[in-house]
Amino acid sequence: KQKESDFDYEVVAQEGTTQFFDGSPTNTYGYNGNLLGPTLQLKEGETVKVKVRNELNEPTTFHWHGLEVPGTEDGGPSDVIQPGESKIVTLKADQPAATLWYHPHPHKSTAEQVFKGLAGMLYVEETDEEAPALPHTYGVDDIPLIFQDRLFDENKQLDYKNLMNSDGTIGDVSLVNGTINPKLTVTKPLMRFRILNGANARNYTFRLSNGATFTQIASDGGLLHEPVEMDEITLSPSERAEILIDFSAMESDEPIAITDEEGNALLPFDLDIDGGTEEMESISWTDDTTFLKEEEKSLPVSKKIELFGMMDKVTINGKKFDPERIDLRQKKGVSEVWEVYNKPDEMGGMIHPFHIHGTQFKIILRDGREPAPNEQGLKDSVLIEPGERVRLLVTFPEEGIYMYHCHILEHEDNGMMGQVEVY
Ligand code: C2O
Ligand code: CU
Ligand code: CU
Repeated sequence: KQKESDFDYEVVAQEGTTQFFDGSPTNTYGYNGNLLGPTLQLKEGETVKVKVRNELNEPTTFHWHGLEVPGTEDGGPSDVIQPGESKIVTLKADQPAATLWYHPHPHKSTAEQVFKGLAGMLYVEETDEEAPALPHTYGVDDIPLIFQDRLFDENKQLDYKNLMNSDGTIGDVSLVNGTINPKLTVTKPLMRFRILNGANARNYTFRLSNGATFTQIASDGGLLHEPVEMDEITLSPSERAEILIDFSAMESDEPIAITDEEGNALLPFDLDIDGGTEEMESISWTDDTTFLKEEEKSLPVSKKIELFGMMDKVTINGKKFDPERIDLRQKKGVSEVWEVYNKPDEMGGMIHPFHIHGTQFKIILRDGREPAPNEQGLKDSVLIEPGERVRLLVTFPEEGIYMYHCHILEHEDNGMMGQVEVY
């Protein structure tokens, strides 16, 4: 009798080389390949078994960023897979459709492993037929875009070592899906892009070079309360946004690109749209419930988090990460309000992107004000300006020990991280 395979997917962290530049291969890391990883696609409600295997010469972990799984499957820093070892994790996509991602999380070397290429997209996909008819043909009108910046040395190698004590690696080379000088041929009038800020440290503000607007439909954890027309979007490291761009009214002879805040074209488009000028059906939905219920808005603050410092002097509530210490406890399924304050220093301070594992939260207030329409959706990471105080409604659907940390990966490696035990 044949034994069924005891897993559905295998994800292998491995070494490789990538041809970024003519003639000189760069040493990189990847999942199931030389750089980045395959997009894992789970259906809403589906359970899959994933065999994770470490073929690197150093310990790693496999973390499913944004997936609400039990602490045992979350792949935090204590869940180390040694070189040559493997294990099977069970991932249940028990949450709304969303664009999530996966990356390593070993204590003190997350930043370097991600910098070398370990990251991939993880989708929870819509099954609900009532849902708005969004473009959903992978690679055709539904495209993942991983934005990263990298620094290369004179031998065209990824040069990490000099940068370890900084506020994170900021590179002068832009990569989209691991490609330098990318270009995308657009073949459909309405395109959906799932954007991940996959940089270690840099914030991106994305615009369209022709000044056109686009529609943000989703934040980190799924569809927004309602679609929002935008002319720019800022994402801090690890944040995602799904946007729709309507190319039907754009002239194909004007250069169109996604740019950064300085106007650098990060992703130029080539228009080759079939089906001509058919009228676009406008996509909208109305969520008849309010984003936050009255009783949610009036919950008292029960957890206070203070982010502080720069370089290697970063702390949360005055402490650095200690794997032996549980910093907070919260009951499974019970919503609490976390107030996260980014305390400035004499220099003014800096933005910290704050992330919590094992939950998709809602922003209740940003410095006393209700969040912008494009932040009225589920989130797992939030950009916090120096001096800002953000209130989050946090619920953990599963039990376990989860990390919360700054997603500037060098800050995380320098101990800007704590642990919450969900019981
Ligand atoms: Cu992107 Cu601790 O995670
Ligand atoms: Cu995470
Ligand atoms: Cu930080």
